[in-house]
Amino acid sequence: MATVPIAIDQLRQETGAGPTAGAMHAQVDEVVTKLTREQKRYLEIQLRDRTATFPLRVWNDHPSFGFCSGLRPGSFVAVEGDFSTSPNFGLEAKNWRIRFLTAEEKADLLAGPPDVRERQNADYAAIESFAGSIQDPRLRELSFLFLGEHGERLRRTAGARNYHHARRGGLVEHTAQMMRAGNAIAAVYSALNRDLLLTGILFHDSGKLWENCFPKESFIMPHDFRAELIGHVSIGIELMNRLWQRLKECPEFISWKSLVPDSDLVRLHLIHLIAAHHGEKQFGSPVEPKTPEAMALHLIDNLDAKLEMMSSAYQFGKCLGQDVIERVRPLPTNVVTALPAVAELTAAPHHTESASLGRETEAEPSL
Ligand SMILES: [Fe+2]
Ligand SMILES: [Fe+2]
Repeated sequence: MATVPIAIDQLRQETGAGPTAGAMHAQVDEVVTKLTREQKRYLEIQLRDRTATFPLRVWNDHPSFGFCSGLRPGSFVAVEGDFSTSPNFGLEAKNWRIRFLTAEEKADLLAGPPDVRERQNADYAAIESFAGSIQDPRLRELSFLFLGEHGERLRRTAGARNYHHARRGGLVEHTAQMMRAGNAIAAVYSALNRDLLLTGILFHDSGKLWENCFPKESFIMPHDFRAELIGHVSIGIELMNRLWQRLKECPEFISWKSLVPDSDLVRLHLIHLIAAHHGEKQFGSPVEPKTPEAMALHLIDNLDAKLEMMSSAYQFGKCLGQDVIERVRPLPTNVVTALPAVAELTAAPHHTESASLGRETEAEPSL
């Protein structure tokens, strides 16, 4: 099969406009034997790539039924055929063939498409650069201890299991964007402690390295018992405290004893930023934000998560009407197409207002 594989979410988008012939490369998440209403046996194979899942239904008279019966969770396969979307069954495959991926194809699939790799490499470099710009030597060293010890794991962790940045490497994207926002906000609100804010952002979701981490060779996110027992907020605090103990073993730590504010006070404020980042007790924070840096971090976290949800609604959401997209949970309501930037409008040829909005010329009553 020489066909260039298409990601599942992209396939879903393309088939919205009509049937598409193509190939998907994916990992088997689970294989379930089911019965039709007529009591005929069929398989439902849950396939997963870095973007989405797809249930492949295999009827017992399909030539690949035997092959599919032998599939186990974790296998990597290529499915090539005709894909379409129906209102009742969603994305479906017809006239399809299936085979195992070669080792090279599997490595490519796990590494992600070149544009995603490039973007996440740039984001990771931005995280390192912001860490290097921290003036307080204790917070700077702590940040590099974290990146040195857990950077590789950070790069395959998701921002969440669902809802936002829920993909391999999503936490790198989320953290880098929050650091950019934190850096900009600290420049405007100059009373904010930039060092504390940037370090807090780096550590705020560090517990997700256990709660939402993908294995090295899988798109299937396991449920980690430590995360179930403690949750990522507490794990993040514990991780940071452990690294802080390691920091005390650095030869430079003695010279930092004369620094003001006192090291233990800095550590406590950093704990507060991690503990308060969900903003409210009902959302899993043991304390509400009580310092400007904790409030800024919480709001930046919320902003980045919500804007990412809106962006995915624009990309994959169901269109309910002109410029109206169906609500994507946990957003509280439907989404409306964003107003383009002025530069885009001025670049367009001169036209009437109704034409510029792509609407029928029938007059709409203005509000
Ligand atoms: Fe969090
Ligand atoms: Fe976050």
